[in-house]
Amino acid sequence: MLDQQDPVAQVAAFGGREIGYDETVLTPRAWTQEQSGWGRSLLDELPEGRVLEVCSGAGHIGLLAVVGTDRELVQVDASIHACAWALRNARAWGIASEIRHGSMLDALEPDERFALVIADPPYVPSHGVAQYPEDPVTAIDGGDDGLDLARMCLDVMTRHLARDGVGLLQLRDLQQGEQLRVEAKERGLSIDEGRQFDGGAVVLLRRSTEGTP
Ligand SMILES: C[S@@+](CC[C@H](N)C(=O)[O-])C[C@H]1O[C@@H](n2cnc3c(N)ncnc32)[C@H](O)[C@@H]1O
Repeated sequence: MLDQQDPVAQVAAFGGREIGYDETVLTPRAWTQEQSGWGRSLLDELPEGRVLEVCSGAGHIGLLAVVGTDRELVQVDASIHACAWALRNARAWGIASEIRHGSMLDALEPDERFALVIADPPYVPSHGVAQYPEDPVTAIDGGDDGLDLARMCLDVMTRHLARDGVGLLQLRDLQQGEQLRVEAKERGLSIDEGRQFDGGAVVLLRRSTEGTP
């Protein structure tokens, strides 16, 4: 159980468990359980290795993906508040996640590889951010076309996916996935599948080349 003494803490149901959060992080969105579930089902087929979640926020998507498995989890977020919540939630779930504070491109060593990379970057175009006054700007602002951070996630996947590993990238919609298709290919990644959910989309990426550029 999460500490109910904290006056600003709130609790969201996620995958039949509880996730703590507050106004410093994005409120957990129920539909994102679909990204966790997709990741969890992929883990049965993927090679050995750790799971990486970038832009983890309060940590729920990655935690639900690995719960019940023996996969080690590394979670990265640029917000110290998000990292604090991810740590607290991981402990509450009994998962020894390694939480790293920093930008996703700085928080990983060059030789680190992961079987699965889960990514949930900010993807609202900057001009639309004002429509979501309740959300921390740094959690949703994806730059001019909304895809600056998604491109960074592609870079992380290119550098850090293990052989035969896959990435699951959350986006606003499948149109954003199409916008990224060529840039993904240029990075040695192919978008093999996309699923639209009520609330957002997730695309699956595979490495189409060996080695790290
Ligand atoms: C859309 S929120 C997703 C949070 C969480 N996955 C959720 O569903 O609530 C994006 C997250 O990315 C983090 N972020 C923004 N820029 C980042 C960067 N360069 N590296 C790592 N995390 C970043 C933000 O702090 C925020 O927690």
